[in-house]
Amino acid sequence: MTITYLGHATLLVEMNDKKIMFDPFISGNEMASDIDIDSLEVDYIFLTHGHQDHVLDVETIAKNNPKALLVSNFEIITWFGEKNIKGHPMNHGGKYDFDFGTAKYVTAIHSSTLPDGSNGGNPGGFVLYNESNSIYIAGDTALTMDMELISKTCPKLDIAVLPIGDNFTMGYEDAAIASDFIACDEIIGCHYDTFPPIKIDKVKAVEFFNKKGKKLMLPDIGESITI
Ligand code: NI
Ligand code: MN
Repeated sequence: MTITYLGHATLLVEMNDKKIMFDPFISGNEMASDIDIDSLEVDYIFLTHGHQDHVLDVETIAKNNPKALLVSNFEIITWFGEKNIKGHPMNHGGKYDFDFGTAKYVTAIHSSTLPDGSNGGNPGGFVLYNESNSIYIAGDTALTMDMELISKTCPKLDIAVLPIGDNFTMGYEDAAIASDFIACDEIIGCHYDTFPPIKIDKVKAVEFFNKKGKKLMLPDIGESITI
């Protein structure tokens, strides 16, 4: 499994030779100006919730990849369906077998209004797994006890992507507790530094994890991690 960080909360996960994009927000992110959005090839676009900083580039990427399938909650899939983007709707607690493996839609504590003010349902995160790998993409969320259910209902996680920027989501201190709840010490941090209210001290964040015997990875934009 390879995970490429594309800035903010945007990720490209390669699993079983399928390319799964999460929360595309590239054209609106000055820090990601080196990423050529038109060269991105994807098989799936997963959306954790409806906020602009997670859905901005869905239409561009879907247009460039007409076979790509959108996966999100029912309300978001319905909204993009009206724009003729085909999708697979899910809701909390449900899992479904795709060709790369299984995806489960899990709880997130956040909000999810779509860019035009439409109801974007309730926000979530995803656990993706198959025989070889497992990954949790938390989406924008506070720390919540529901994260403990992930280790009880899904295979053991190899790695998790957690927001660490604070203000709109949990900060790194709470993310370290989340790491305990999900029983996974290998964490990729996201949703930090993009906007002034979520700028963090990266060295401090990494040290905070180190002291707890955990690993916080903060890949550069465009950098990949293979596990
Ligand atoms: Ni959000
Ligand atoms: Mn966000």
